[in-house]
Amino acid sequence: MKTTISKLHSYKNGKKIVMTTAYDALFAKMFDEVVDIILVGDSLNMSFLGEDDTLSATLSQMIYHTKAVCNGAKNAYIITDMPFGSYVSPKDALKNATKVFKQTKADAVKLEGGQEKAEHIKLLSDNAISVVGHIGLMPQFSRSEGGYKVKGKDELSKAKLLQDAKAIEEAGAVLLVVEGVKEDVAKEITNTLKIPVIGIGAGRYTDGQVLVWSDMLGFFDEFKPKFVKRYLDGAKIVKDAISNYKKDVENGDFPTIKEIY
Ligand code: KIV
Repeated sequence: MKTTISKLHSYKNGKKIVMTTAYDALFAKMFDEVVDIILVGDSLNMSFLGEDDTLSATLSQMIYHTKAVCNGAKNAYIITDMPFGSYVSPKDALKNATKVFKQTKADAVKLEGGQEKAEHIKLLSDNAISVVGHIGLMPQFSRSEGGYKVKGKDELSKAKLLQDAKAIEEAGAVLLVVEGVKEDVAKEITNTLKIPVIGIGAGRYTDGQVLVWSDMLGFFDEFKPKFVKRYLDGAKIVKDAISNYKKDVENGDFPTIKEIY
């Protein structure tokens, strides 16, 4: 059965919400049988396209991958990231999010930023586009901030995160992603807001968790951020399998009589 936003809201203070990313129909179909939410994250620009950050992701790229995910996932609630530069003004945000809603079956769009994005969120919500907020470590700010910085380490940063979270909820966001923040701050945000808060590198007390699928399944094996738990040694499994294929082809063990017409 399709996961609706009211179902997700009913999980607040109850069942933990399970969210992962997906970028294509094949993986989306597998994840759809298990998770509540699939995020078509602009992290695809790094893990799928091999770029160094998310900044060069485009709206047409996000729409293309969202279509693929929607073709594979029929039940999960689907969120699409608005890419860097596509929501500078509220008007830009409405124009580009409308394109996402018209061209895909995404249930919501996600955008990074605090209270300065409240006007954008309100305009989209008023125009029947559900919005998910994203605060804390915001990958689209990695260049301007000189790296990926954990937030909420001092009183000022903590106060700003709380203010941002409240402003985003008041503007009409349906969910909030909190990334790379100290656990006590994420806990306070979760206890303060009525909408579910999904954490990534934000500790144990949020209403749910999200991980990038290629990190969680070990397909990205160059390094493992502290907050990631690996559930599969994906890169090793694939490398072993492709090496076996190479061996079989080179030795003449594939194809056999079973694989010929
Ligand atoms: O792009 C993405 O995958 C994300 C998650 C890290 C939350 O925004």
